Amino acid sequence: MASRDSSFSSLTLLFIAFLVFISIPTEAAIKQYQFDIQVKNVSRLCHAKPVVTVNGRFPGPTIYVTEGDRVVVNVTNHAQYNMSIHWHGLKQYRNGWADGPAYITQCPIQTGSSYVYDFNVTGQRGTLWWHAHILWLRATVYGAIVIKPKQGAPPPFPQPSREEIILLGEWWHGDVEKLVNQGANMGVPPSMSDAHTINGKPGPLFPCSEKHTFVMEVEPRKTYLLRIINSALNDELFFAIAGHNMTVVEIDAVYTKPFTTQALLISPGQTTSVLLQANQLPGAGRYFMAARPFKDVPLPVDNKTATAILQYKGIPNTVLPILPQLPAPNDTEFALSYNKKLRSLNSQQYPANVPQKIGRKLFYTIGLGMNPCPTCVNRTRLTASLNNISFVMPQIGLLQAHYFNTTGVFRTDFPDRPRTPFNYTGAPLTTNLETSQGTRLSKVAFNSTVELVLQDTNLLSVESHPFHLHGYNFFVVGTGIGNFDPAKDPAKYNLVDPPERNTVGVPTGGWTAIRFRADNPGVWFMHCHLELHTSWGLKTAFVVEDGPAADQTVLPPPKDLPPC
Ligand SMILES: *[C@@H]1O[C@H](CO)[C@@H](O)[C@H](O)[C@H]1NC(C)=O
Ligand SMILES: *[C@@H]1O[C@H](CO)[C@@H](O)[C@H](O)[C@H]1NC(C)=O
Ligand SMILES: *[C@@H]1O[C@H](CO)[C@@H](O)[C@H](O)[C@H]1NC(C)=O
Ligand SMILES: *[C@@H]1O[C@H](CO)[C@@H](O)[C@H](O)[C@H]1NC(C)=O
Ligand SMILES: *[C@@H]1O[C@H](CO)[C@@H](O)[C@H](O)[C@H]1NC(C)=O
Ligand SMILES: *[C@@H]1O[C@H](CO)[C@@H](O)[C@H](O)[C@H]1NC(C)=O
Ligand SMILES: *[C@@H]1O[C@H](CO)[C@@H](O)[C@H](O)[C@H]1NC(C)=O
Ligand SMILES: *[C@@H]1O[C@H](CO)[C@@H](O)[C@H](O)[C@H]1NC(C)=O
Ligand SMILES: *[C@@H]1O[C@H](CO)[C@@H](O)[C@H](O)[C@H]1NC(C)=O
Ligand SMILES: *[C@@H]1O[C@H](CO)[C@@H](O)[C@H](O)[C@H]1NC(C)=O
Ligand SMILES: *[C@@H]1O[C@H](CO)[C@@H](O)[C@H](O)[C@H]1NC(C)=O
Ligand SMILES: *[C@@H]1O[C@H](CO)[C@@H](O)[C@H](O)[C@H]1NC(C)=O
Repeated sequence: MASRDSSFSSLTLLFIAFLVFISIPTEAAIKQYQFDIQVKNVSRLCHAKPVVTVNGRFPGPTIYVTEGDRVVVNVTNHAQYNMSIHWHGLKQYRNGWADGPAYITQCPIQTGSSYVYDFNVTGQRGTLWWHAHILWLRATVYGAIVIKPKQGAPPPFPQPSREEIILLGEWWHGDVEKLVNQGANMGVPPSMSDAHTINGKPGPLFPCSEKHTFVMEVEPRKTYLLRIINSALNDELFFAIAGHNMTVVEIDAVYTKPFTTQALLISPGQTTSVLLQANQLPGAGRYFMAARPFKDVPLPVDNKTATAILQYKGIPNTVLPILPQLPAPNDTEFALSYNKKLRSLNSQQYPANVPQKIGRKLFYTIGLGMNPCPTCVNRTRLTASLNNISFVMPQIGLLQAHYFNTTGVFRTDFPDRPRTPFNYTGAPLTTNLETSQGTRLSKVAFNSTVELVLQDTNLLSVESHPFHLHGYNFFVVGTGIGNFDPAKDPAKYNLVDPPERNTVGVPTGGWTAIRFRADNPGVWFMHCHLELHTSWGLKTAFVVEDGPAADQTVLPPPKDLPPC
């Protein structure tokens, strides 16, 4: 009897499996999520404080999709803050309405209101993430996005036994919005974070960590995929696991040529997927994973180390874990050589379509500055700028203004290069630090090829800056230390297999050249992903014009687009 039952059920299962198999390639699924923005008490470092969360969870829920799916997220705001959510790295073709940066592609979702983010996930697979894109609320409002490849297109690396999400973050004792307001009123940076976290937990190098340590259990000889995300606000981080190397296979949802490393560097906004072989002998035990900032200039930084534990199955918790050797916080050489190893896979199936001929060449300087502020400390306010322009946030969404031809909201005269060239990375400049201000954007023709050189400067101080472009991936074709030389440096570009990503670190006192084809119409934000610098004005946006065909225009706005 039992055996007849089981043969029946296995036949049924086979049939169902067959139906599932034939139905998947033909019909994309709709993945629906409810995101309730709620304030919840969260306890860390020995005390609790109310923080903004999604569904009461910190970090927030993971979005799981398969390439080709449609994702529908109903965000309902029960918190006292206005809210918007950015799906970091998703291209949102023609669909900036679902991108999320407040006052760029939408007005925020007001308390008591809902907005449905409705988008397709097309031509991307790997690890991305989502986060609040208003004020500094992403300090606690963030989570992972996992995009599985289409059926029949397995990833170009061995199938892991299991995968784990590793979200790196920052934690403050105090109320982050209060601290940020205090800093802004005085014209100085707010206090630094008090801890770094791994999956929201600081680990045992901090007090009261018993319940606040993330543990990943592994079995010997098995392979694991770690999807590592830097969701910290202001810190580029080194990450390593004691006793284990990692093989990098994907960055920002793009497969890479695999390479093995003892530590990795990850900037805010970036993701890195690695294969981890649990190749330690049983009995060896417990190993720390650790994350700590990279900072190669003498500016203040929260340099505290977050840890989590990689624990072999069956090993008692009493075994003391070993700490990995992280690069020194000022190890510029490691940072540069690590980034040099990143290459696109550039295979037949996953080609690197690097623009070879460039229609539009842009050169933007990154600078810190100081503007007069009668009520501030020293009567000045720290600021930041691109081509000497500190971006002023508008009162309504720029995409709306663009779509409805509303005048007076922004200008499209952002300069293609600095008005007054200078020795960008020469001796520190400590006078003439005023910046000009405006909501100035750059207009880009549909399907034109753009090269943008981002040049750090020594206004006040050099510093590295992770730059994020919305709506696109770009190719990182070149980078160097010092001033970009338009006569010599382009000859050294990698136009074959450069890394393709959505966020790139511009090195301290150096430059980075990126290229992309402007084939996604809309208004696309570009900014430093250090929240401190974004809030000081280190941002702008591209207005990419509509193409000639009906399917090359910005889609009409959704009916529930929040009003301002
Ligand atoms: C949150 O925690 C703080 C500190 O422990 C406490 O004073 C407060 O009442 C708590 N609030 C809620 C809503 O639980
Ligand atoms: C979104 O969620 C809210 C709260 O649950 C609900 O009132 C609203 O009807 C939902 N919107 C849609 C379009 O489902
Ligand atoms: C998503 O894809 C579906 C099916 O192709 C299409 O009908 C819909 O308009 C797309 N949505 C967006 C926002 O592009
Ligand atoms: C990690 O890689 C380094 C350098 O290639 C090598 O010396 C070391 O033995 C490797 N460690 C492990 C645990 O495989
Ligand atoms: C971290 O910073 C503190 C004080 O700012 C300093 O004493 C300490 O040596 C630093 N640690 C590392 C690892 O650089
Ligand atoms: C890095 O920091 C260490 C410790 O503070 C210092 O001894 C060393 O000179 C620094 N290295 C560089 C390249 O600045
Ligand atoms: C204010 O001025 C003093 C003296 O010049 C200087 O030491 C300090 O760093 C300044 N503070 C700020 C926030 O600029
Ligand atoms: C905006 O202006 C363009 C070009 O002048 C026109 O084609 C378009 O219909 C206008 N859009 C709206 C919503 O009025
Ligand atoms: C720029 O400044 C650096 C450092 O002071 C100096 O070595 C270099 O010669 C300067 N370059 C030019 C073109 O003046
Ligand atoms: C930036 O603009 C301000 C205001 O126009 C000007 O005073 C300053 O010299 C400019 N700075 C640079 C580095 O071009
Ligand atoms: C963009 O331009 C390229 C090169 O001229 C062309 O191959 C491609 O079809 C164009 N794409 C669109 C969407 O017009
Ligand atoms: C939320 O946005 C609305 C509309 O822009 C504004 O009136 C209100 O002051 C904002 N609320 C907060 C708490 O910032």
